[in-house]
Amino acid sequence: MSFPYTPTRAYPTTPTPQPTPVDIPSGAQRPRLTFLGTGYLGATYAICFAELGYDVLGLDPDEAKIAKLSAGELPFHEADLDELLRRNLAAGRLRFSTNYREAAEHGDVHFVCVGTPQRPDGMSADLSYVEAAVTSLVPNLTRKALIVGKSTVPVGTAEWVEQLVSKYAPPELGIEVAWSPEFLQEGHAADDVLRPNRLVLGVKSEWAQSMLYAAHKGVFDLAANEDREVPVVVTDFATAELVKAAANAYLATKISFINAMAEVCEAAGADVTMLARGIGYDDRIGKKFLQAGVGFGGGCLPKDIRAFQARAQELGAGEALRFLHEVDLINLRRRTRVVQLSAELLDRPYGPNGPDLSGQRIAVLGASFKPNSDDVRDSPALAVAGKLSRAGAHVAVYDPEGMENARREYPDLEYAASLNEAVRGAELVCVLTAWEEFRYADPKALAELAAGRRVIDGRNCLDQALWAAAGWEFRGIGRPGA
Ligand SMILES: NC(=O)c1ccc[n+]([C@@H]2O[C@H](COP(=O)([O-])OP(=O)(O)OC[C@H]3O[C@@H](n4cnc5c(N)ncnc54)[C@H](O)[C@@H]3O)[C@@H](O)[C@H]2O)c1
Repeated sequence: MSFPYTPTRAYPTTPTPQPTPVDIPSGAQRPRLTFLGTGYLGATYAICFAELGYDVLGLDPDEAKIAKLSAGELPFHEADLDELLRRNLAAGRLRFSTNYREAAEHGDVHFVCVGTPQRPDGMSADLSYVEAAVTSLVPNLTRKALIVGKSTVPVGTAEWVEQLVSKYAPPELGIEVAWSPEFLQEGHAADDVLRPNRLVLGVKSEWAQSMLYAAHKGVFDLAANEDREVPVVVTDFATAELVKAAANAYLATKISFINAMAEVCEAAGADVTMLARGIGYDDRIGKKFLQAGVGFGGGCLPKDIRAFQARAQELGAGEALRFLHEVDLINLRRRTRVVQLSAELLDRPYGPNGPDLSGQRIAVLGASFKPNSDDVRDSPALAVAGKLSRAGAHVAVYDPEGMENARREYPDLEYAASLNEAVRGAELVCVLTAWEEFRYADPKALAELAAGRRVIDGRNCLDQALWAAAGWEFRGIGRPGA
């Protein structure tokens, strides 16, 4: 049972801004919007802003993705979004294209939503997609427009984009740049975009600020209708870029903090879930992001904390972020810990090269990096599945939504068609993504299917007493065994 907990507001909210009227370059009533890159971020934005009444064009060079979106099919799993996609395509407010000339003609405000993955040769961010998007768009522009970065980038990128713009655009067009980092969370992305908890606007001119307000008027109107405020932080480019880097560094640190506590709890025979409750009721600490487990993954936190360190190093401030290296190491250690626990539970020898799990059948429940998403980028669940498989185990992976992506990214692993199929004949079950299907699975029924009643709760999301009562030998992360 959770204790009633109402956090108090630390700061007064900023009043909803009253945008100063601004001439829209296309002559339309509201700015026409383009979203360059229609992945998790860009497609969600394109769909949600069409829902808010804007005339929207989403662009991506990936023809298959654009064909899917144009046909009303979402290329990824995100609750509630497919219905919004179909509704707005039908209403004629939303279309998709691979053509930069069309995007340039359409947009008053162009949001850059392309990927910024970790470079293969180091920790820094690969900005080649940002460069390609900007240099493909700008030569096609024929009137004034605002280019707004939404991708997560190293500090200094907006200034560099401004230089690219001045290199490729005729100066008389007066193309401007702004940066507005994005904080949406996969799993409730549509709600995060329609109802953001804040907007951060990095701008250099009143015109850019007014255009951004006009481009978000639908967000402010929705908030006013729902009697909410959307706080707005208006700042310079560098601060806007750093807000995002700092937010992700903080979140990653909080997760690794509780995972470090889990390590100490394991050594001391204490229970990290109770420790988290014990500290989380202090509203200076808060309860969120205090679930010990196999740690963070996905397309953001891991690469963002590495890129932040790399950029700080370039700026001569590397020492300030040295702790993020430890945050990363703690996070990665949790993955190895599941393999150690597996060897312990299966009573298998652990040599200098890791454990020998040959001949053991292990069910890995979870492939996506978090529940309610099919995103498997840097997924802790799949990383653990890979380690178990390399240790000789016969691993069967099951995930409610992430199977297609997992098969593509990790073709060497074996996949089961259902939860029951994964567990059937397994000596050990590892729950590594906290999907509801796993959290509320019936441990008695699963006990009938498994060859050995051993379970590792890699997300501390199961009811330990219930599983133990059904005869399972239970291990959590940072918790004493049952
Ligand atoms: N996914 C999230 O939850 C999230 C949240 C906040 C911020 N971000 C940031 O947003 C950015 C995008 O992330 P994502 O998860 O949507 O990535 P993604 O890989 O899902 O999408 C990126 C898209 O950009 C497209 N693209 C590549 N080159 C292009 C070009 N030249 N022009 C136009 N499109 C191009 C790709 O085809 C792809 O569809 C990253 O910087 C990420 O860190 C993501």
